[in-house]
Order: sequence, then structure tokens, then C-alpha cells
Amino acid sequence: MSVPRTNIVLIGFMGSGKSSVGRRIAAQLGFQFVDTDALLVEREGREIAEIFASEGEDHFRDLESAMLEALATRTGCVISTGGGVILREKNRALLRQLGLVVWLTASEDTIFARVSRTNKRPLLQTANPRATVTELFAARRPLYEAAAQFTLDTTAFSHAQAAAAVIAEARRVFSWDTAG
Ligand code: S3P
Repeated sequence: MSVPRTNIVLIGFMGSGKSSVGRRIAAQLGFQFVDTDALLVEREGREIAEIFASEGEDHFRDLESAMLEALATRTGCVISTGGGVILREKNRALLRQLGLVVWLTASEDTIFARVSRTNKRPLLQTANPRATVTELFAARRPLYEAAAQFTLDTTAFSHAQAAAAVIAEARRVFSWDTAG
């Protein structure tokens, strides 16, 4: 399959599996895997928690938006984004321009179990992270819904199953007719 002039863009709450599933999709399609958070950390030379702590969330959001703009010329990528990328309307429009926007979601319990494995996420360093997940998820759900063209609930899925489902949707949407 020749590399198409588009991308697959994964959005979703922290712990929804964007990076793990994204890597698999990219490997299977021969696409390049791009993780906006990892790129940002590499370019800034600092962890996300450090950026939040020293310059605040707004500054992080500016960097995140600039990163999406910088990706506008890329094609043939699976782009995994940070969970809050949908907060800005401008970003939601940019995501659509990048390619097929897929919302990976899962039950709150599943998400909480996954995010509890690390303490790297500044927004969840609260007195009651489980309640924070519920609050943030409720506030963001409509924004993920608005941004997404395809939604996949991965609660009962392995990464391999989730990747297969996204690839099947991409094949349908882009009318790819050959095996990747
Ligand atoms: C954030 C999610 C994180 C990272 C930052 C903010 C959010 O990415 O961008 O900590 O606002 O939900 P992951 O979704 O990859 O954890």
C-alpha cells in the first residue's frame, strides 16, 4: 500500500491507550508513529510535569497547539495526542485537518487503573485522583465527542484488538483496498 496523504489522529483521556495502540497501528500500516507529548518533551528538554510546574498549564497548551500546527505538513503518520488537546477549539479544528480523528475511550475504572501506574501526569496529582478523573472526564467528554469521527471503547479490548478496529475503520473511510 502506498502511504496515503493523510494521518490517523488518536485523541482520548489520559490512560486510554493512545500511545500503545498508536504504535501498533503505525507498525501494521507502515506509518510513522508520532506522540505529541513525547515530541514536546524532546523539544523542550523537560518533562511535562516540569513545564506545568514552572510555566503553568496555559503555557503547556500553547506548546501543544504549536506542535499540532507544526505537524500540518506531515502525512502517513499515526499521531497520538495529549488528553487535553481537545480543550481548545482551534486544536479541534487542527486535528480534523490532520486526518481521521479517532477517540479511544474506556470506562472510568479502567482509565483510573491505567493512570495509577505512574505519577507522571500533573493534572492527577490531587488529593483525590479518582474524583479528578471523574470531573475531568465529565467536562471533556463532549469535546472528545465533538472532535472525533470515530469512537472506540477499548475497555474490553487488548491493544491488538483496538489497533485492528482502528485500522478497519481507516480502511473503510479511506477506501484502502489492499492489506497494509
Ligand atoms: C494531559 C494529558 C497528558 C499530557 C498532560 C496533560 C491532559 O497526556 O498531555 O499531562 O490534560 O489530559 P496523556 O493523555 O498522554 O496522558
